[in-house]
Parts: sequence; C-alpha cells; structure tokens
Amino acid sequence: MSSQTASSLDRLIVALDYPTQSGALQAVEELNGLVSWVKVGLELYLAEGRPVVDSLLERKLNIFLDLKLHDIPNTVAGAVRSVSGLGIGLLTVHACGGPAMLEAAANAAAKITGAPKLLAVTVLTSMDRAQLAATGIHHAPAEQVALLGKMAIEAGIDGLVCSGEEIGLLREAIGSDPLLVVPGIRPAAAAVGDQKRVVTPAAAIHMGASKLVVGRPITQAADPAAATRGILDEIAGA
Ligand code: C5P
Repeated sequence: MSSQTASSLDRLIVALDYPTQSGALQAVEELNGLVSWVKVGLELYLAEGRPVVDSLLERKLNIFLDLKLHDIPNTVAGAVRSVSGLGIGLLTVHACGGPAMLEAAANAAAKITGAPKLLAVTVLTSMDRAQLAATGIHHAPAEQVALLGKMAIEAGIDGLVCSGEEIGLLREAIGSDPLLVVPGIRPAAAAVGDQKRVVTPAAAIHMGASKLVVGRPITQAADPAAATRGILDEIAGA
C-alpha cells in the first residue's frame, strides 16, 4: 500500500447505518482492504451493543462511536468512562450541553489510557434558521456553529463534527489543529438523498476537513467497493 493510499484510508469513515450486526459485517466484508475507519451510530449500537464493536475491532477497524452524548456533566463523564474501555477511536458529545458538560467529558477521557478522542457536534445539519429559532436561538446557523465550536475546543474537546459549509469559518475560529470530521459528503454523481448541505470529497479535503463520513454513497451503491475506490482517489488527488 502506498503512503498516499494509507493516508486516504485514514481520512475516510464509512457510516455503518444498519439495524443488525450481520448487515454491518457484510458491508465491511465487501469493503475488505478499502476501509480502515467505520462509524457506529445509535441505530446499530442500540440494537447490537458491545458485541458489534468487538466484531469490528477483531477485523482491525478503527471505530467512531457516534452516540452524541448530551446530559448533565456527571452523567456524561460516566458515559465517557463506560465506553472508554471498548477500544474505540472517536466518540461524539453535543456541544450544546455547555462548557461544564464538555469539560467533564474531556477530563474523564484524559484520565483513561486509550480513551477515544472526543468530537463535539455543533449544530445538527438537519437544523436550519427556523428550527434553531424555535428552540430560542436567534443566531444564524453558521454563527451558532462558530460559537459552539470555539466553546467546545476551549473546554478541551479534541475536534468537531460540522457540515462542509462550515469548515472554513471553523478553521478561522479554532485554527488548523483540531479534528474536523465532515458528514454530508457526496461525490459529484451520487444521489443527495435527505442531506441538504453537501460537498464533494475533494472539496471537503481542500477546505480543511480532517476526515470525511460517507454512508449511502458507499453502502447503497451498486458496487460499494468501486464507489469507495472512487472516493479514495478523490481524497488522494485533493
Ligand atoms: O448516508 P450519508 O452519507 O448521508 O450518512 C451520513 C452519516 O453521518 C449518517 O450516519 C448521519 O447520521 C451522520 N451525520 C450527519 N450529519 C451530522 C452528523 C452526523 O449526516 N451533522
């Protein structure tokens, strides 16, 4: 494997949005050698729990556990401790839990060898100005993303989840070091589906994304391995 291929592999996270372990493992089999990171979200984790994480680790995959934790500081710190022994690489918390919750999560992780890096979700990509206003927040989504992103990094969180549209403003606000993990990725020929703010793999890397999260353009492609190779080529060429 060339070093360029290895670094492209490290930047692609395939979202395993399946209701069963068997579906997720079949998808992973089809992508053998083309994927090093997978995302386990609420659908799969709540259905299958730790065994699915163990099965993916046995296959030498790195795991992004997307649980989007949001509770009082003590509870979130406990949840971070509970999953820190699983061997996962990345874990999400909600930035809108506030600085005390984020600091508690970061402090809990800092005390555990092998704890995952923590990512804060800023504003969900399903929220537009009207949805935010309905919750009492009258900033534009981009302003709210910048505010929450800066707050999360200052609280000791390792990185953020953001849409492609916010990569530039976040890099300006937090610099080049923190991880920026970007879903809503669509190669030029792929169906957009329910995503609203999409960017191509090349554009996201170009703007400063650290890693890309890709689900349906791979998992629902007629040839998932070919779709993955295309995305890896785009990442390598960006
Ligand atoms: O299929 P698709 O490529 O749209 O999947 C994107 C993945 O990223 C899904 O697992 C979705 O839950 C996740 N995600 C997202 N937007 C966010 C955070 C996570 O699409 N803001």
